[in-house]
Amino acid sequence: MNKFFLNLGNQPLANNYLKSYKQNQIRYNLRLFFNTSNKMVSISKRIPSEKMFTNNYPYRSSMSKTMRNSFYKLSLEIKNKFNFDKILEIGSNDGALITNFKKNEVIGVEPCDNLAKITSNKGYLTYNKYWNYELAKKLKKKHGKIDLIYSANTLTHISNLKNVFKSINYLLSDKGVLIIEDPSLLECIKKNSYDQFYNEHIYLFSAISVKNLLSNFDLEIFDLKNLPTHGGSLRFYIKRKANKDLKISNRLNKQIQNEIKFGLDKFTTYKQFSINVIKSKIKLLKILNQIVKTKKTIIGYGATAKAVTILNYCDINNDLIPFFTDTTPDKINNYMPGKKIKIIKYKKNILRKFDYAFLGAWNFKKEIISKEKEFIKKGGKFITHVPKPKIF
Ligand code: TYD
Repeated sequence: MNKFFLNLGNQPLANNYLKSYKQNQIRYNLRLFFNTSNKMVSISKRIPSEKMFTNNYPYRSSMSKTMRNSFYKLSLEIKNKFNFDKILEIGSNDGALITNFKKNEVIGVEPCDNLAKITSNKGYLTYNKYWNYELAKKLKKKHGKIDLIYSANTLTHISNLKNVFKSINYLLSDKGVLIIEDPSLLECIKKNSYDQFYNEHIYLFSAISVKNLLSNFDLEIFDLKNLPTHGGSLRFYIKRKANKDLKISNRLNKQIQNEIKFGLDKFTTYKQFSINVIKSKIKLLKILNQIVKTKKTIIGYGATAKAVTILNYCDINNDLIPFFTDTTPDKINNYMPGKKIKIIKYKKNILRKFDYAFLGAWNFKKEIISKEKEFIKKGGKFITHVPKPKIF
């Protein structure tokens, strides 16, 4: 049974950065639910994929050093630990992972034309398609079964998870390994980072819910890692149940125990989370209003999809934060979805004109702080809402 626990208001599509704030945009009610039987947390409203993953999808995996390093490290791990003839990446974005491999070793699947073009122009075989059973059949015919399937921050974006895993189950070789990584529900609840929820993040995974999900297939988790990326992610290593060569690590049970200890299997935890979210909104608005009252200025740092949830849930507009800055080409000179806040191109010293920077990309706090030493030296301060709204 799906039980409702939080309403994050009427939200625009998070990655829909528009040229004009006057342009009409779809809004949907962002409501969060907990499934009491399989323990999955999800949003209720499913926007058709074609509306979200368009021909000019702006998000680029390679935009931060942190993510480039994370993908590079994973590529080394894959090369050292696993035997593979071919690797398939579902949601290959701009190639942040696959470009670490030889061209004949990898196949990308990417539904957004603009992103698929980036990797195919570099000579990487890229299917400009949505991940589904039809594509899995096509790939099997052409390339045979696949030894290693990887997907980061993609599977939680697909509404029909049964179809997702049925298709993977069909294509993965007998000794094959599936590696998936997505934001961790435990970290989200711990950090009160309710901005992990937006239209594209249909699910937030826990080890408990993924284990339950896989029990419907010939697949099981054999290892797991907590990663610092995206504010705390879980990387699951999955194999066929019949494959006894790969031993089940105790990290899986440890994670499940931590999740149970934190109450991720209980509805009351999510009710408490929703109270914490309301408190967080009140506190953040108080901080921003106090700063603006003293005639100091604030810029948003990192025009993230997460920030879109914050701006629209807290109703923060250009009277509080007149601009955001970002390095992503397709976001620059557009507006934050749902708000009259323009995104300006990131330049060194851009923060000089502002007193405070609100961390839209709080998940890259370390990288940003080390980049903005000058701002900090001159008395500039950051604002974050994670884990609690504060100035630092
Ligand atoms: P991310 O946190 O991955 O986003 P989302 O919530 O959309 O999934 O995106 C980080 C954004 O911040 C991305 O648009 C790039 C931008 N960014 C900068 O502009 N400067 C930086 O130094 C960093 C690290 C990120």
